[in-house]
Amino acid sequence: MNRKADLSLKIGKLYLDNPIMTGSGTFGFGREYEDFIDISKLGAVVVKGLTLEPRKGNKRPRIAETPSGMLNSIGLENPGVKHFIQEELPYLKKKGVKVIANIAGNTIEEYCKMAKILNKTECDAIEMNISCPNVKKGGVAFGTDKDIVYKITSEVRKCYDKTLIVKLSPNVTNIKEIAINAEKGGADSISLINTLLGMAIDINTRRPKLKNNVGGLSGPAIKPIALRMVWQVSQVVNIPIIGMGGITSLEDIIEFMLAGANAVAIGTGNFINPAITIELIEELESYLINNEINSINELVGKIRTY
Ligand SMILES: Cc1cc2nc3c(=O)[nH]c(=O)nc-3n(C[C@H](O)[C@H](O)[C@H](O)COP(=O)(O)O)c2cc1C
Repeated sequence: MNRKADLSLKIGKLYLDNPIMTGSGTFGFGREYEDFIDISKLGAVVVKGLTLEPRKGNKRPRIAETPSGMLNSIGLENPGVKHFIQEELPYLKKKGVKVIANIAGNTIEEYCKMAKILNKTECDAIEMNISCPNVKKGGVAFGTDKDIVYKITSEVRKCYDKTLIVKLSPNVTNIKEIAINAEKGGADSISLINTLLGMAIDINTRRPKLKNNVGGLSGPAIKPIALRMVWQVSQVVNIPIIGMGGITSLEDIIEFMLAGANAVAIGTGNFINPAITIELIEELESYLINNEINSINELVGKIRTY
């Protein structure tokens, strides 16, 4: 019998063939993975974080391996949004894959400028990374203040017609109030989680392993935290959730969906196995068929809590 399973879903105005996308900053602009996988089969490619002007990023070393995870302090090294539109976006669109631009800025005005520019392109959606320092407010990350989250989302919403995803930082005490304000501000979807602030020290040199001293922790080590936050956020918002944080297996994906994620992103997993995304799409399809689940959407939020 040749059964098929429906892996498709909708996020805002965006239709995806399947719920598996790449985590920003872990898949470059897709070219790097061309030799390993057919990137046109991905639900969507979320590209490396973009800023208005090109950025060099932080000093090296900026990667350190930790138990079941990694620390990074890349510092948003990227060629800028204009380069992306001219050189990278046409390549990705030619492949026929949905493209989500991850954007970051120093001010709300910078986010709006980028949104306006991207609105006129073939790029399918924006993911706003609001975990960066708000220079105007003195080094506080946008994403940790619920009032700023509302303000920045509603301002960007005014200049962007397509699907707007707001990516949340886990470095907060109350993820629910942040998510509620992103939805109130007009977000079509929420993605979470970004990396957790961490540190590693070399005992011989007595120096931090990262030149930046601290960095973002990702990988399987953060999965339980990500899962908890996805579940908490799914209780308080009505918009689709893109879950991420340590996903490396089919079981991880099912867990995230049961917790309330409509789609998932694979980040650090790409470094361990460059073909992981495509393998997981195939495994997910087989899982649905074997368990006689017609549509992926049937799994979302079906956790049986105590
Ligand atoms: C090397 C590296 C670079 C990253 N760069 C970005 C970025 O530019 N923008 C962003 O929103 N998230 C960035 N992230 C966070 C990931 O997209 C993802 O949210 C996080 O790593 C958790 O997922 P994972 O455990 O599957 O990696 C980066 C993560 C890593 C490891």
